[in-house]
Amino acid sequence: MNKLTLKDVSLENKNVLMRVDFNVPLDEKLEVSDDTRIKATLPTIRYILDKKPNKLILISHLGRPEGKKDPKYSLRPVAKRLSELLAQQVRFIDDCIGKRVKEEIKETKEKVILLENLRFYPEEEKNDSNFSKELASLGDIFVNDAFGTAHRAHASTEGLTHYLTSVAGLLLEKEIQYLGDLLQNPNRPFVVILGGSKVSDKIGVINNLLPKADSLLIAGAMAYTFLYAQGKSIGNSKLEKDKVLVAKEILEKAKSLNKDIVLPIDHIVVDNIDANASLEVAGEDIPSGKIAVDIGPQTIEEFKKRLKDAKTVVWNGPLGIFEIDKFSQGTYKVASFIASLSCISIVGGGDTASSIAKFGLESKFSHISTGGGASLEFMEGKLLPGIKALTDKNE
Ligand code: 3PG
Repeated sequence: MNKLTLKDVSLENKNVLMRVDFNVPLDEKLEVSDDTRIKATLPTIRYILDKKPNKLILISHLGRPEGKKDPKYSLRPVAKRLSELLAQQVRFIDDCIGKRVKEEIKETKEKVILLENLRFYPEEEKNDSNFSKELASLGDIFVNDAFGTAHRAHASTEGLTHYLTSVAGLLLEKEIQYLGDLLQNPNRPFVVILGGSKVSDKIGVINNLLPKADSLLIAGAMAYTFLYAQGKSIGNSKLEKDKVLVAKEILEKAKSLNKDIVLPIDHIVVDNIDANASLEVAGEDIPSGKIAVDIGPQTIEEFKKRLKDAKTVVWNGPLGIFEIDKFSQGTYKVASFIASLSCISIVGGGDTASSIAKFGLESKFSHISTGGGASLEFMEGKLLPGIKALTDKNE
């Protein structure tokens, strides 16, 4: 990567301004219900604290408050959780720009400070230059560790890089290493698994990875548009009618590239999507009225066969409706199988990451991305604005 990283700069006695992605779920008591993204930034925070900065000022968004102050989207609970994880008090300031914020940063005895949700200001998402300047004036150097938001050209990810030396944090660097460099030059065989509900979400990823992959396994609801395009009966399973042509083109492209696209050969089907529904196994063609909710046992075996010698596996999108336990067996069995392999295993963020967490298999994968939309765009081969904006090594 031709961008400056934390290791290229001195942090001693500096006010280090760091963009993090603390867009984490909160429960009904407004407590953090999944702290994965907070934990993922701890190595960067600890690294910076080790370098004896004056202050470490963290900035983030949470949710989509649409430019208005809304206590539902306050980062205060995140400051509490971060204090627990760091075992040191994190100072929360209930605003993110202005004179008072500057004074509080100066006066507080705490080393780590978390400012209030950037998206309480509409200027953040508009990438407003005055707002960017205000943010930039809080620090002497800017660190971006918010991979999950790197696909957004906002004031805190793009705008402020025009005013401060801007370097990648350790998490951002790791994400780039796994999702970028490793996918450019994968150890082979290289197997890509795509699932999830929509073909439309994955077209860019397929186009980018199909020429590079040795096998592409497709499951989840998106598989049914491909099976329909092949002339199979899909019953009442999800179909994106306007993507049938795209699916046909992808299948033809795979043929011309001499690449395998492996689709489900059997299915778990139900009459209604309901946790109490009774399950049946359907063969290649799905009977009319039935809805496929998971891959069947033969497909699981076929996927394992394709995966067993893989040296690099990339996975994005669950293979069935994993949120309902009964329909999660395909996703679970394939996840467990990958976990048992000695290969580089990379998981896109969002639902796939949640499914791996639900199965308690996180530690068995080489890398689980903290970005949902960002990891998809990165796998599409796009240079994300938050990464592009960082200071070049030779600048
Ligand atoms: C995410 O959760 O994908 C990131 O935090 C970005 O959030 P956004 O989609 O609201 O920009």
